[in-house]
Amino acid sequence: MPLTLKPHKPRTRRPGRQGKVLQRLIENDLIRKVSYDEYRDKVQQVYGGPKGAMLSVCSLMSLHIPLGERIFRARRFDLRGAKSILDVGSGAGQIAAHLLKYADADASITLSDLSRQMLRRARNRLKSPRPRFVACDLSSLPFEDGSFDCITCGYVLEHLPNPEPGLAEMSRVLQRGGRMFLLTTEDNFSGAWTSRLWYCRTYNRGELKRLCEQLGLHWKQELWFTRMHRALHAGGICVEIEKR
Ligand SMILES: C[S@@+](CC[C@H](N)C(=O)[O-])C[C@H]1O[C@@H](n2cnc3c(N)ncnc32)[C@H](O)[C@@H]1O
Repeated sequence: MPLTLKPHKPRTRRPGRQGKVLQRLIENDLIRKVSYDEYRDKVQQVYGGPKGAMLSVCSLMSLHIPLGERIFRARRFDLRGAKSILDVGSGAGQIAAHLLKYADADASITLSDLSRQMLRRARNRLKSPRPRFVACDLSSLPFEDGSFDCITCGYVLEHLPNPEPGLAEMSRVLQRGGRMFLLTTEDNFSGAWTSRLWYCRTYNRGELKRLCEQLGLHWKQELWFTRMHRALHAGGICVEIEKR
């Protein structure tokens, strides 16, 4: 008898109506209420101030740093072979520290962030002469087309009211065949709390995937930090993307 396999159905979190209402109540909606310029000023204030100073501690406590490192250490997102890497919205250098550890020794590493204060913090924390630091907005990157063969972008895209300009910019500066490590906040209960804390929006996984694919950014594999992350989607959307 031929063996029939049930098609694999990706599990998605579907909160009930009450859950959705609660999520909406928790989520911060500043990003939808004010102009992008006003919102960006607020983001710069938040990350430039005491909350930003606590960012690396928060990333340790939320396990973002140790669990993120496992993905790079185990080469589930393989940095080997990448020669020019851009880390977008590098914050306190949480992902950059993994890049310094696991990328090839001759790879060039560029860290960019909207906040100069966060770039200073990254520089002080990383204590490495290797990266170059560039202050800029993700939706207007000051780099030539195809400047990088690898981009990492962790918990930054949620600071854009509309993801398209940011994704299009990252796609523009990424070479064809280049890869991107994208990590962003999901539209569920834990994402709603992240939104409240950091004034960001959240993304629906399916919608974000469709938009990426339309822009030629193919979702090569979804990455999970742990089984718990996979079951609860608590750590956000984490995906390896390839530019087609
Ligand atoms: C939550 S931190 C992420 C830090 C790090 N990438 C990580 O994975 O933990 C978000 C960072 O994105 C930066 N950011 C926010 N909006 C941005 C924008 N439009 N362009 C570039 N960086 C931005 C903030 O200044 C902050 O440093």
